Amino acid sequence: MTTPRYLSGIQPSGHLHLGNYFGAIRQHLDCQVAGESFYFIASYHALTTIQNAAELRAMTLDAAATYLALGLDPERSTLFRQSDVPEVTELTWLLLTVTPMGLLERAVSYKDKVSKGIPASAGLFAYPALMAADILAYDSTIVPVGADQIQHVEMTRDMAQAFNRTYDAEVFTIPTAKVSDAGSVPGTDGQKMSKSYGNTIPLFASGKELKKTVMSIQTDSTPVEDPKDPDSCNVFALYRLFATADEQAAMRERYAAGGLGYGDAKRDLLGKIEEAFADARARRAALIASPDEVEDVLREGAKRARPVARAVTERARKACGVAG
Ligand code: ADP
Ligand code: TRP
Repeated sequence: MTTPRYLSGIQPSGHLHLGNYFGAIRQHLDCQVAGESFYFIASYHALTTIQNAAELRAMTLDAAATYLALGLDPERSTLFRQSDVPEVTELTWLLLTVTPMGLLERAVSYKDKVSKGIPASAGLFAYPALMAADILAYDSTIVPVGADQIQHVEMTRDMAQAFNRTYDAEVFTIPTAKVSDAGSVPGTDGQKMSKSYGNTIPLFASGKELKKTVMSIQTDSTPVEDPKDPDSCNVFALYRLFATADEQAAMRERYAAGGLGYGDAKRDLLGKIEEAFADARARRAALIASPDEVEDVLREGAKRARPVARAVTERARKACGVAG
């Protein structure tokens, strides 16, 4: 069997949060030892929601520093800024020409974003084709993502097959999604945690700010003395991500016994979050204070990534006849 090549991206559209960590980042870090890995900060995708240059630059560095602080090893993994490899935009066009409108019209994420008030630009509509180009440009075989991105990976497979079929050539490698077992991590309001929904618990919030966010997690109005159902509780859904099997069982008993206030459960969760990210928080603060170091990592990453994307793009250009 050939070595797997992992590839994934994350949008720098706000501070990364617990949903990003358990849904995506944690498995990205695990995949570093399982094969070759390419991870990028999806700056082109972020333009569909952030249109402020200073903010985009700052958030891109913030996302890269977050990955490095959490343990991404730039010697092992190629970490880069999506827009440092402009070949992906070229490939996006080639893919769009074999993509039926109907395929893009069925994208759940597009409809969700528009219903949440994100402007319905042509860029937002074509977003899955740019994502397909990201995946196909590096001949990646496995795409580790959260559950909400499965449809985009399916669309990528459709686009790759359509191109290969149209030009009767094996231009693109057909990738598969690897979905995290964390499921969809709920935000403070119980909906999927997302930067676009204003319900996140940022990975590196601390002190009063973190406390305020955790205390704002929505719970039902069961009185303190009554037994409570951990399986329908947002606090438990988050606690479970950090706790060992024994700790989860003990917390379940406290819920079932009655006498546990949601405030107590929230304080336990707060302790877990503080503890889990304490070391990474210190490393991230140091990296944010030396942005040149982070920028160097991204630049080095792009130097390794770009020739791979160039070769695949050339293959596609030749197959369809735009290159002589
Ligand atoms: P956001 O929705 O906050 O903008 P992104 O769309 O940038 O997050 O997602 C980056 C990665 O994190 C994706 O692989 C996505 O599946 C994962 N992810 C985001 N939010 C969640 C969540 N609430 N639960 C599980 N995974 C998530
Ligand atoms: N659309 C992804 C998200 O919102 C981010 C992304 C862009 C991505 N390009 C990618 C993920 C390629 C995996 C592979 O989470």
